[in-house]
Amino acid sequence: MFEGRIAELLAKEMKGKGISKESILKLLEKPSRSELGDMAFPCFILAKKSRKNPAEIAKELAEKLNKKKPEDISKINAVKGYVNFFFNASLIAKGIIKRLLDEKDEFGSGKTGRNKKIVIDFSGPNIGKPMHIGHIRSTILGDSLLRIFDFQGYNVKGINYLGDIGLHIGKMIVAYELWLDKEALKDNPVDELLRLYIKFCDKEKIEYNEDFEEELQDNEWTNKAKEKLRLLELGDKKTTEIWHEIIRVSKEGFNEIYKILNVSFHEITGQSLFSEKGKQIIAQALKEGKAKLESDGAVYAEFQDLPKKYVLRSNGTASYITQDIGAAVERYRKYKFDRMIYVTDFRQEMHFRQLFALLKEWGYDFSDKLLHIGFGTINFGGEIMETRKGKIILLNDVLEKTIVKAKEEIKKRKTKGNAADIGVGAIKYAILKNAPAKDVNFSWEQALNFEGDSGPYLQYSHARACSILRKTDINKVNPKADFSVLDNPKEQALIKILSEFPETCKNASEQFSPNIIANYAYNLSKTFNDFYEACPVLKAGKEKEARLLLVAAVRQVLKNALNLLGIEAIEEM
Ligand code: ARG
Repeated sequence: MFEGRIAELLAKEMKGKGISKESILKLLEKPSRSELGDMAFPCFILAKKSRKNPAEIAKELAEKLNKKKPEDISKINAVKGYVNFFFNASLIAKGIIKRLLDEKDEFGSGKTGRNKKIVIDFSGPNIGKPMHIGHIRSTILGDSLLRIFDFQGYNVKGINYLGDIGLHIGKMIVAYELWLDKEALKDNPVDELLRLYIKFCDKEKIEYNEDFEEELQDNEWTNKAKEKLRLLELGDKKTTEIWHEIIRVSKEGFNEIYKILNVSFHEITGQSLFSEKGKQIIAQALKEGKAKLESDGAVYAEFQDLPKKYVLRSNGTASYITQDIGAAVERYRKYKFDRMIYVTDFRQEMHFRQLFALLKEWGYDFSDKLLHIGFGTINFGGEIMETRKGKIILLNDVLEKTIVKAKEEIKKRKTKGNAADIGVGAIKYAILKNAPAKDVNFSWEQALNFEGDSGPYLQYSHARACSILRKTDINKVNPKADFSVLDNPKEQALIKILSEFPETCKNASEQFSPNIIANYAYNLSKTFNDFYEACPVLKAGKEKEARLLLVAAVRQVLKNALNLLGIEAIEEM
């Protein structure tokens, strides 16, 4: 928010010089050292324009600005071609504390999303297969994005698009009919389905694959699966019954995981629901000559700059993109969204580029509102993840292992706190602190390090603020306490970072980047702990009231930030 105010100030001063507020905003920098001020404006571009020396321009500007310096700026000076601005920390503290006390859980929220609707398609596990580590990233990322947009005032809709149809379903039905162990299904449904699946892959002589199904040609077993899929599309009774049973069991397994992760959706729909709609749209495109027919009966779309894409199989059955075509059109009809975001692994990038391009080609203008956010992989590095099934990394196993480790850590440190909250917080933070496009190098030691850049460290900082506040009655503290006594640099740093929260939330939404919030929360925690080491709170003298209010502010802002990440703000640890 300071950037905006300073840009305005500068724009006014330089009116008529052909430099807009927007371009000033882009030029503003945060000085590397706090002695140089809180914000700096470099004059080099201006110097080029006016052929003057930058140092001279900076000096002139600083002189003029000093004459109309607003209250919340304490000093403006010129150094080496930069105009430096120093904030009046006590005044800012006063403003921030007032806003925080008024707005509480809403502090940091914005209005950029007012009257706008965003749909986020995330998680999307595949029926019959266990959720794997790629789905966890989509689930955690999508959930956090949903929270971040909600906080900006958007009307948000989270959709879980279940992979309830496709070759994997055909395989599953064949395996279920041939080898099902009913007892095992009752005792441990997810494991039994996986066993069936792997057995099928063995027969096909391919390795179990977490996501994509290889369409083997002329493989006896693959053909059986394709045949089941055809029967299913024809509505065959027995096949449909088995399919429903597999969906039911799978969903139960997924729901357990969503419960642990505390993630929910506004809509849960299976891919299969959109086969018909997709086929209708494709038939229309074919009629209009926009889609093309292959000699074997398959239908495809061609692009200028992308590889051609089959949208319908030669036997007439729908494929992954057929349903995505139908689903996109249906969702736009239903939600009239301003934006729809798909959160998946990078490997699906081409799929979505082709989907958006063909929708546009076929006359669906809303395709401009579609966006794919691809994410990188999660590497477990040297720490081999031992799973019940060897090489496959299952979400259940990761969660279980993390919670066990969190328990150990709690015991070792003799701290309070619920192992599930800490373990889940650790995983969420380890994933969210990385920009979506980056790979995650996951390490348990780092994720659960209470002193490091980790979820538990943030939770611990929040609990620490709560514990300080528990020892006093914050409601009795005068909110208009004298903040001018806070002159320690650690206090000033804390005030500054607190004031940056609303801007940070806005940036995170504009850049689709929960990592901006995660990194902010980490810096805030660090700044808070530095402050706490340098400045006594409960035992302070004249600063006590102001410092208590700062601690209350930290508690609230950390809570709000953790909430945007979907991490539990633990009060006692
Ligand atoms: N089921 C897919 C997978 O496991 C993810 C679905 C993504 N959403 C979509 N509309 N295609 O990779």
